[in-house]
Amino acid sequence: MKLNQLLSAALAAAALSSAVAGEVEVLHYWTSGGEAKSAAELRKMMQGKGHTWKDFAVAGGGGDNAMTVLKSRVVSGNPPAAAQIKGPAIQEWAAEGVLANLDAVAKAEQWDANLPGVVANVMKYKGSYVAAPVNVHRVNWVWANPEVLKKAGVAAMPKTLDEFFAAADKIKATGLVAVAHGGQNWQDFTTFESVVLGVGGPKFYQDAFVKLDPKALTSDTMAKSLETFRKIKGYTDPAAPGRDWNLATAMVMQGKAGFQFMGDWAKGEFMAAGKVPGKDFLCAAAPGTANAFTFNVDSFAMYKLKDAGAQKAQADLAAAIMSPAFQEVFNLNKGSIPVRLNMKMDKFDDCARLSSKDFVDTARTGGLVPSVAHGMAISPAAEGAIKDVVSQFWNDDKMAVPEAMKRIASAAKNN
Ligand code: BGC
Repeated sequence: MKLNQLLSAALAAAALSSAVAGEVEVLHYWTSGGEAKSAAELRKMMQGKGHTWKDFAVAGGGGDNAMTVLKSRVVSGNPPAAAQIKGPAIQEWAAEGVLANLDAVAKAEQWDANLPGVVANVMKYKGSYVAAPVNVHRVNWVWANPEVLKKAGVAAMPKTLDEFFAAADKIKATGLVAVAHGGQNWQDFTTFESVVLGVGGPKFYQDAFVKLDPKALTSDTMAKSLETFRKIKGYTDPAAPGRDWNLATAMVMQGKAGFQFMGDWAKGEFMAAGKVPGKDFLCAAAPGTANAFTFNVDSFAMYKLKDAGAQKAQADLAAAIMSPAFQEVFNLNKGSIPVRLNMKMDKFDDCARLSSKDFVDTARTGGLVPSVAHGMAISPAAEGAIKDVVSQFWNDDKMAVPEAMKRIASAAKNN
């Protein structure tokens, strides 16, 4: 072979390989023990397809830090290949014209047939897929340490708010912390939205937090929710402010605290530490919310990139995310349930099975509601403003309930 023939053969091979493999930079905020194990499954799958995984992890539960970093990268014209964004934020990014269209993969892999309609809608912008969903997290859970409950004489997981406070009093009396909490505004709201759901039920939750109806936001039911929320603070410890959520989970794990209000990524944390559900830790719907399900769907959007290798990697990432193999292994680690329909649940534990059953049941009864704390319900601006007020209320014992309601309603209206 002559030199120029050799050269063009080499160039053709290079072009071919760049068309089949590329680098995929993935921005996410899965940095706790259970989360990192789950993210590693996605990395492995992409590496298995010959792509290079460039990890872009931004620590900070709930993803607020990650979103700030993402904005600056996109604004400076250097977006990552994929980013963990969700809910109405997907629509906002798509409206900016920076997201890649995933319809080709979605069609080939039959996403429409394999996703619940409520999820598919969130993944689409003007009818086209722009994000790939990973899972369904349930937010309205309470986690508990059975040893602590036993020591305190609490016979069963509380089903109602009254039972919850009775149990919390007993735990407090043993000298342990009744409620492990991390005082960060997304964690405050994670607890608050479960309380609102428990006090007002799913219809009220929808009116207040999805429709942002000013009447609901300033109603007696909202007043009762705020009072109940404030009461819970009395069961947390003085070191709660600023604490990361996984450290609060560790308090329950280590028998230092009885309960934690948290979504089921907490289960991922228990599992990563080798704990067994039903034995070392207990799960139950947050008090008063067994007939409801606050959903939180993690998803990845792909940013428009020019490089053919990168585009191929993005398409492979989207396909991998929705594949049955990934949906199973990822969600076993993450604490969530597969978002893909008709998946076998035989490898999943009782908490996940309950979640799966309740997801289906509540979709029928109207109890399926989007999580505000986790970016599923309203615009990021309104969410941020409402969360700020709720955290100010949590932190300032002097803020009166009517004042808090007035501020929540105005945050909802002005954003
Ligand atoms: C995300 C989870 C994550 C949790 C804590 C939630 O908003 O949906 O995937 O584990 O925040 O960071």
